Amino acid sequence: MEIIRTPAAMTAWANRMIAAGDAIVLVPTMGYFHAGHLCLMRRAKGLAKRVVVSLFVNPIQFGPQEDLSRYPRDFERDAALADQEGVDVLFAPEAAAMYPEGSRTRVTVSGLTDGLCGRSRPGHFEGVTTVVAKLFHLVKPQVAIFGQKDFQQLAVIRRMTADLNWDIEIVGHPIVREADGLAMSSRNVYLSADERQAALGLSRALRHARQRVREGLTDAAGLVREVCEILTSATGVTVEYVECVDEASLLPCARLAPGVVLAIAARVGATRLIDNDNLFAEEVQ
Ligand code: PAJ
Repeated sequence: MEIIRTPAAMTAWANRMIAAGDAIVLVPTMGYFHAGHLCLMRRAKGLAKRVVVSLFVNPIQFGPQEDLSRYPRDFERDAALADQEGVDVLFAPEAAAMYPEGSRTRVTVSGLTDGLCGRSRPGHFEGVTTVVAKLFHLVKPQVAIFGQKDFQQLAVIRRMTADLNWDIEIVGHPIVREADGLAMSSRNVYLSADERQAALGLSRALRHARQRVREGLTDAAGLVREVCEILTSATGVTVEYVECVDEASLLPCARLAPGVVLAIAARVGATRLIDNDNLFAEEVQ
């Protein structure tokens, strides 16, 4: 596996691959790999000949009160794991190379970024779309993979890609969970043993919701009430939002029907966790 540190070297590599007729698939990440990231890499192997994983803790997607400085990092471990997955290139640029002095441009997707996580994280999605747009230009992928765990992020990136006429296929990968249901996240390392137990309330609430839908419940407001009850009964969980929204427009839905995603954001201690379920989609293990 090659480790590339500069945007110029990344593009030179991409140009060589394209000249040789090799398609590139990109897996953007902020590192501190867990099994979810590794599943994305494994999926990538089947989608194009060359796999590029980017590892960049993107400063502009963190708010001033957020965890940029303490975001978990372990480059050596990450590099070894990506290598084991058969990744061709690990692109790990410095922040100063991605945002050199004088850089002013931001990519904004309006509307889709106002609600859900956008409400409590102003500027977050602009940071995400700006860095992903830059990565698309530098890596020149035909396919890029994102996790459904961050389903608003996925919807925003799909919108950006279509709006900017990028000929890149965006693949959404199902949420990868721990055996007990907790959605994998680099931020799970922040949780104490008690908090981790409380955090299980999120996936428990989603399982309950799926069961209620299977029983024929169609009232979204009723479902949200039940889910909030489950979450608040788990000590140590503070709900930020529980919403039923359309998977593409992210607009609130009154009626539960195919395409509706139940999305949760909650704080467990000082850690903010998100989880969601596309309620009518086939269940993935
Ligand atoms: P990061 O949180 O490192 O996640 C990288 C990718 O892994 C994202 O597409 C995310 O949705 C996916 N992912 C994380 N946990 C997952 C899980 N449990 N199951 C499936 N996929 C999972 O998301 C980001 O980084 C950044 O915002 C980024 C897109 C790289 C832009 O900086």
